[in-house]
Amino acid sequence: MDNIICEEEALLDGLLHRLDPTDPFISRTICFPLEKCDELEERIKTMRFYGVKGLLNYGRVVIDKDIRVIGKGYSSIVVLSCMDDNYKPIVLKIRRLDSRRKSLEYEGIILDYLTPSNYTPALYFWSKDFIAMEYVTGLSLEKYIEQTITSNKASLLRMLVRIISSSYFFDLIGIDHTELNRPYGHVLVTRKNYPVYLDWESAKIRRKPHNLTMIASYLFIRSRHSEKILELLNIEKETIIPHLRMYKYNPTKEYLWLIKLVWGAYQRLV
Ligand SMILES: Nc1ncnc2c1ncn2[C@@H]1O[C@H](COP(=O)(O)OP(=O)(O)OP(=O)(O)O)[C@@H](O)[C@H]1O
Ligand SMILES: [Mg+2]
Repeated sequence: MDNIICEEEALLDGLLHRLDPTDPFISRTICFPLEKCDELEERIKTMRFYGVKGLLNYGRVVIDKDIRVIGKGYSSIVVLSCMDDNYKPIVLKIRRLDSRRKSLEYEGIILDYLTPSNYTPALYFWSKDFIAMEYVTGLSLEKYIEQTITSNKASLLRMLVRIISSSYFFDLIGIDHTELNRPYGHVLVTRKNYPVYLDWESAKIRRKPHNLTMIASYLFIRSRHSEKILELLNIEKETIIPHLRMYKYNPTKEYLWLIKLVWGAYQRLV
């Protein structure tokens, strides 16, 4: 974990903010977009109940002067936090007070179901206003492709095999992420070269999900890097499209076709 610890050093650093309602970092992140709110005490009570010790002022996203977080979306603020007596570093997704979603419980249930797959951050607890999960360090899929497409093609192809197989897995078990055609903040690639899928709040349980075709159309047809990926696979877009169209009729056959295509390119390289 990128030099993040929740113990003494962080305390001395002033990075760790204990759950003190008068601390502006605490009220700002928990009450976002407000500075203070009636819900604050109740939310802090819930966090304490689940063992949250404090929040860390850390991340690339600045939500206010001197207030940094890991992520900010329309429904939540995502804050690095510490949990339990061993001050385990975790990520806390906090429901924004202006979120159109009344609860994060649905996403919690989906994550609970998917956690053993290892394709999602491990889940620690969830409630109406919080999801506590593993902190995933990695690059967004887009950045990862940008960094590997010329200098580390073998890693890229290995990861593409994993991304195709994981999206096929989600299709098999009937959970549609629904936002994988725009996977920007939703798919991270870890340092060990595995994809991790975030943000399941819009997921749908359906008989025929579209995860594989959505991610494939991003990778091979619509992304800034599609042309280069096709070059790497030594194939034309026009050859892939009919296979993606046929996927809904015969998913296993088309999945196997696609995975062999990418695996073949990987084998030629290594
Ligand atoms: N477990 C995690 N580990 C590391 N970063 C995370 C994690 N969960 C979320 N993030 C970061 O926080 C950002 C926002 O998270 P998420 O997409 O779940 O929030 P959201 O409020 O649902 O966003 P949106 O409005 O875009 O749907 C992510 O894009 C990612 O950068
Ligand atoms: Mg979301």
